[in-house]
Amino acid sequence: MNVLAATDAGSSEPLLRISDLKVDFGGRAALHDVTFDLFAGETLGLVGESGSGKSTLARAILRLVRASGGSVLWSGRELLSCDSRALRELRRDLQIVFQDPLASLDPRMTVGESIAEPLRIFESRLTAAARGVRVGEMLLRVGLAADMMGRYPHEFSGGQCQRIGIARAMILRPRLLICDEPVSSLDVSIQGQIVNLLLDLQRDDGTAMLFISHNLAVVRHLSHRILVMYSGTLVEIAARDALFAAPVHPYTRALLAAVPPPLPVERDPAQAAAIRPSLVAESPAMTPPTGGCAFRNRCGYALAVCATHVPMLEEIAAGHQVACHRAREFLT
Ligand SMILES: Nc1ncnc2c1ncn2[C@@H]1O[C@H](COP(=O)(O)OP(=O)(O)O)[C@@H](O)[C@H]1O
Ligand code: SF4
Ligand SMILES: [Mg+2]
Repeated sequence: MNVLAATDAGSSEPLLRISDLKVDFGGRAALHDVTFDLFAGETLGLVGESGSGKSTLARAILRLVRASGGSVLWSGRELLSCDSRALRELRRDLQIVFQDPLASLDPRMTVGESIAEPLRIFESRLTAAARGVRVGEMLLRVGLAADMMGRYPHEFSGGQCQRIGIARAMILRPRLLICDEPVSSLDVSIQGQIVNLLLDLQRDDGTAMLFISHNLAVVRHLSHRILVMYSGTLVEIAARDALFAAPVHPYTRALLAAVPPPLPVERDPAQAAAIRPSLVAESPAMTPPTGGCAFRNRCGYALAVCATHVPMLEEIAAGHQVACHRAREFLT
């Protein structure tokens, strides 16, 4: 595993700098002012329940959905305003692996053609024979056989299709790989293999990852730092070990533990019961209240200010940011 420490990462220029990123769908905000940095070689885990905006964030970074505001700086260049030609060139280094491996492959193309497609676009001077060699090597790297390149996606299992999707995304040795729930649709027995494959490829190529998942065990295994999203808002950002040792935001704590740890403050037991173990599962988010803290109708610690003022993401310890009016009270 790439063992770049988050603290080391913090000292260099970010590879990706997201500032105040907003996305609206038909006037409804799906992302609210999302701000974070991602450093070269780093793996950032992004967790949050279904419908919290994780895929929207991935797609907005790649301009697969339109951002309504904010900034996405990639190696210092603004992705949101660059023209399509510049975007295409920059996308070479910025690849994505999707959740549904079969749907993300063109059923009419052989897997060799699918994996070779980025080479045809970005390394157009390669001969067909040289492309074939590269595709064969890449198939081996993802644990498949080079002679599988003439077959079609439907001839492969879900896990094999995900290996093919990863081969296609990694063949240009991108600097950043965004993985949007890449193992969620696979059998549990296959998930670990795919996660370890991603770690091996990352170690060999030094690729940074934004790894999206609602599975905390997977995110814990992979990530240097973790971003927690609730209802389109980042509510907590911390180094992996700090987050698991001492989560601060009530939503993060609900995610990490069926029962939140006792707090050094008086609280109403009926309200405390509002943080339910079911939050741990991927359940559809209920409609959040507008104004104030979006989590307040599920939070056992809400105060009057939580209904009137949106809590901002603030640094409460080195490298640890939380968006909660009571964050400092919850520090252990
Ligand atoms: N293309 C779209 N058009 C309209 N609403 C969308 C679209 N994509 C996502 N949404 C909505 O945005 C919210 C966030 O969705 P999404 O980013 O897919 O969440 P996640 O990946 O965390 O499950 C959801 O309420 C979803 O219904
Ligand atoms: S801001 Fe208030 S409602 Fe929101 S998580 Fe913190 S205590 Fe709970
Ligand atoms: Mg998603």
